[in-house]
Amino acid sequence: MEVIREIATLKAERASWARPIGVVPTMGYLHQGHIELARRARRDCATVVVTIFVNPTQFGPTEDFGRYPRAFERDLDMLRAEGVDAVFAPSPAEMYPPGFSTWVSVEEVTSRLEGASRPGHFRGVATVCNKLFNIVDANRAYFGQKDGQQVAVIIRMVRDLNMNLEIVVVPTVRESDGLAMSSRNTYLNEAERAAAGALYRALTVARDMRRGGCMDAAAVLRTMGEVIGAEPLAHLDYADVVDPESFRKLETLETPGLAVLAVRIGATRLIDNMLLEG
Ligand code: PAJ
Repeated sequence: MEVIREIATLKAERASWARPIGVVPTMGYLHQGHIELARRARRDCATVVVTIFVNPTQFGPTEDFGRYPRAFERDLDMLRAEGVDAVFAPSPAEMYPPGFSTWVSVEEVTSRLEGASRPGHFRGVATVCNKLFNIVDANRAYFGQKDGQQVAVIIRMVRDLNMNLEIVVVPTVRESDGLAMSSRNTYLNEAERAAAGALYRALTVARDMRRGGCMDAAAVLRTMGEVIGAEPLAHLDYADVVDPESFRKLETLETPGLAVLAVRIGATRLIDNMLLEG
């Protein structure tokens, strides 16, 4: 497995890589969720490139960029074990040299929820993914459903800008109590980790209401709020039921809806989502 730090090196190597090329963008501190994306890419693609880059431009000024967890050598061991061909791990200066001034801004789908809670976040995500797609020149890119609005933003960008790659969405990988795996789970102490189970409980209650025939999005939303409200350590940032592509709010569940949640537990902010359908 090659570890590449520079864009020019990657572009030179790329000429000899068999296609299709699959890229898995990550910020490192890998867990089984990331590994599932790499496995899926390994099954589908002749060459698999995983990128590890804690992208400064998608963090707000008061967010956790400085303390975002890092474990580079361990990440490399995990990826070697999955038969990944190359890891691209550039420095911030390599990705954003002096004079950098072009941004990709996806509108509408970013206007609410994560977009509203984290101004500038999706501009950073869209810009870095666009750069990574161009650098790797991949045929397919792999993203996790865990970050549902990110998936909608990337799909919108690829469509709107006629980018020549396929986006593959991989189901959320969960812990045994249902908590979605996340690098940020590492911030939780024992009591907070137990409280974090409330996100999955709220989402499964929503799913079961819809399966039971409830079509009233407002009623589902109220119940989700009650489940989170019953957990003293959990504070609801937002809960909603939205169209999975546009992220517009849904009033009824006649069409499949995505239940989305952002919850603060102590200083940690967790997000999760689940598809509601009959
Ligand atoms: P990061 O949070 O490291 O996640 C990298 C990829 O792994 C994303 O596509 C994310 O949705 C996926 N992922 C995370 N947890 C998952 C889980 N439990 N199950 C399935 N997939 C999971 O998302 C980012 O990094 C960044 O925004 C990035 C796209 C790399 C741009 O900087």
